[in-house]
Amino acid sequence: MSHTIHLPRIIEIGKNSRNQLPTILASLGAKKPLIITDQMMVKLGYVKQIQDVLNQAHIESDYFDQTIPEPTAASITAGVECIKAKPYDAIIALGGGSPIDSAKAISILSRFGGEIRDYKFPRQVNEAGLPIIAIPTTAGTGSECTRFTIITDEKTSEKMLCAGLGFLPVAAIVDYELTLSLPPRTTADTGIDALTHAIEAYVSQKANLYSDAQALAAMRLIGPNLKLAYHEPNNEKARESMMLGSTLAGIAFSNASVALVHGMSRPIGAFFHVPHGLSNAMLLPMITEFSIPAAPQRYADCARAIGVATLEDSDLIANQKLIQELKLINQELQVPTLAEFGVDKKHFDEVVNTMAEQALASGSPNNNPRVPKVTEMIKLYQELWAS
Ligand SMILES: [Fe+2]
Repeated sequence: MSHTIHLPRIIEIGKNSRNQLPTILASLGAKKPLIITDQMMVKLGYVKQIQDVLNQAHIESDYFDQTIPEPTAASITAGVECIKAKPYDAIIALGGGSPIDSAKAISILSRFGGEIRDYKFPRQVNEAGLPIIAIPTTAGTGSECTRFTIITDEKTSEKMLCAGLGFLPVAAIVDYELTLSLPPRTTADTGIDALTHAIEAYVSQKANLYSDAQALAAMRLIGPNLKLAYHEPNNEKARESMMLGSTLAGIAFSNASVALVHGMSRPIGAFFHVPHGLSNAMLLPMITEFSIPAAPQRYADCARAIGVATLEDSDLIANQKLIQELKLINQELQVPTLAEFGVDKKHFDEVVNTMAEQALASGSPNNNPRVPKVTEMIKLYQELWAS
């Protein structure tokens, strides 16, 4: 049996890799890029940094900074209008997962029209939009290396998964220096998201030898450095490991898919505006416990790769240590419960059936080693509330 692997054409990795941007643009034959970003990136001076690099190479650029966290269909429309206003020939997607995901949707819609809901899973969007060079500033969603984007349909409160080669950036610049000023909350949420990508890719029913190698390498980098990066934001070694770990985890899940944690996490984000990494973090220990009986060896491998269990530990012990560690991470990184986050219990109960249905429709739960029925998923949501 063979597996198809998809990667960006160029991945530039390491300190100051952003300085290679003009060379990458030249290799694509692009002369007029639009930077797609958010207002925080402008405020923090990151857009200026990128424009300075471009100016030195005599490349003119504009920026669109109206992307929003957890992007919606409506928020994409403004970007499409902006990009159509001038003959741009490339997109530089700069920021966390949301600007990069927005850029992917803008790239496709600006060239092929329609609305983003026309492109949602199970449709495979393999058409080529404007080429995207993704520069992540978090570690991270891994979006710089994936063929997915997540956009919320505000009419139905559904986080739509859109998939296909059309959403895969042509180049990724993975420069950990851009993460040094991340606040601890973002470091925690995006870091747990990356860890979740690696674990879910490894236990996914679509896992393969290639994705396994990336997922295990990602866990070895993220496991010992997640808490360290949170406690010591200026620890360059920890930031570097988290950044590369996040990219490798992105490659792993782009080629093996995520599973039940992500499937159940998206509806929580859509209905209650819980940031993506945070809703994953809330679910990760519980869903891991639920799933271990169906893949005990795989989860034990995760425990060993993360560095909390040894080869001498039995799978049973390793899995106990994994659960302990995931709970400890949430405690130490101050992940709130749904109630602490401010989710209204009455509203939660009202939409719990819809959340389970949307989770199932996204396709991700079917990749889990243990696939729950809708009724079981409703029970899991209720247990999450009680935990
Ligand atoms: Fe994620």
